[in-house]
Amino acid sequence: MNSPYLPGRYPAVRLRRTRADDWTRRVVAEHSLSADDLIWPIFVMDGVGKREPITTMPGQWRVSLDQLVAHAEAAVALGIPAVALFPCLASESKDAEGTQALNPDNLMCRAARLLKAAFPALGLIGDVALDPYTDHGHDGVIRGGTVANDPSVELLAKQAVVLAEAGFDTLAPSDMMDGRIGVLRAALDHAGLQHVRLIAYAAKYASAFYGPFRDALGSGQALRGDKLTYQMDPANSDEALREVALDLQEGADMVMVKPGMPYLDIIHRVNTTFGVPTLAYQVSGEYSMIKGAIDNGWLDPERAVLEALLAFKRAGCSAILSYFAVDAARLLARDRLSLPKTKS
Ligand code: PBG
Repeated sequence: MNSPYLPGRYPAVRLRRTRADDWTRRVVAEHSLSADDLIWPIFVMDGVGKREPITTMPGQWRVSLDQLVAHAEAAVALGIPAVALFPCLASESKDAEGTQALNPDNLMCRAARLLKAAFPALGLIGDVALDPYTDHGHDGVIRGGTVANDPSVELLAKQAVVLAEAGFDTLAPSDMMDGRIGVLRAALDHAGLQHVRLIAYAAKYASAFYGPFRDALGSGQALRGDKLTYQMDPANSDEALREVALDLQEGADMVMVKPGMPYLDIIHRVNTTFGVPTLAYQVSGEYSMIKGAIDNGWLDPERAVLEALLAFKRAGCSAILSYFAVDAARLLARDRLSLPKTKS
């Protein structure tokens, strides 16, 4: 709205007229949600025939690789453009340096090869960070008692090349080390991987809403201390714009704000300031809050999910990483086929 002065007055103006029927509501709708807007995070694990429910995220699973293609097929069939993979390692495979992150035959690399072979057109987003691989649960390596920036970035760049070579067409660094986008971009380009895209978790906050995800990965109990020295302070907003500006200068193709719903103001500022593809991560705690209320019968299972996702579009998002992606895409596909809803 360019003018702060709205034309017209009641009773000549009655905004309820355009709300009166389904067709006018559809015609004047400013935003919409479709499967194209959704990215589904998937947790993979070792073993055979495993589909373990994640207790703190009802309706989400950890799947072994033999189950992965069938699991991802749900998203592909509904037209979801991409999935984001996260690995759940057994604690014996973790160490202080996150050694497994650099193994070209690790869980993520094997998962990427399977999914690329089964669904060549599906976008594959690989998480770049060390926390699934470290026994202390931090996203980088520890030197002298703190998470050390530059040594971590060096390892993350190697991890990025390993993941890209295994078939991830997009990498999403979620570690929040300074300077990592530029170093990753240079490492990928040097390895002849110029086509690999970077989604920067540019404004990632030190949030309580990651709790269920850390349970899913088993990195929660392992985590020593907190992530306040590298993830952003929830009190800050201008700082998010600086983070985004730096990541764009360093070569990020898309930027992400995380968590989602408590940070809609940040999404809006980022998108209006930079006008670049802005993604949100509706994180595990947001999912579990809504899902928990739905499972208790406190929220409408369909409307609550779609309303929460549409809010991201209204705030300026191009796409949303959401554990509800498959459920939401199913609802949207059904709504497209159904007749207009009756008046209420
Ligand atoms: C860590 C990472 C986290 C999430 C994605 N990558 C958690 C953390 O920073 O501890 C959270 C995702 C979610 O909560 O759904 N690299």
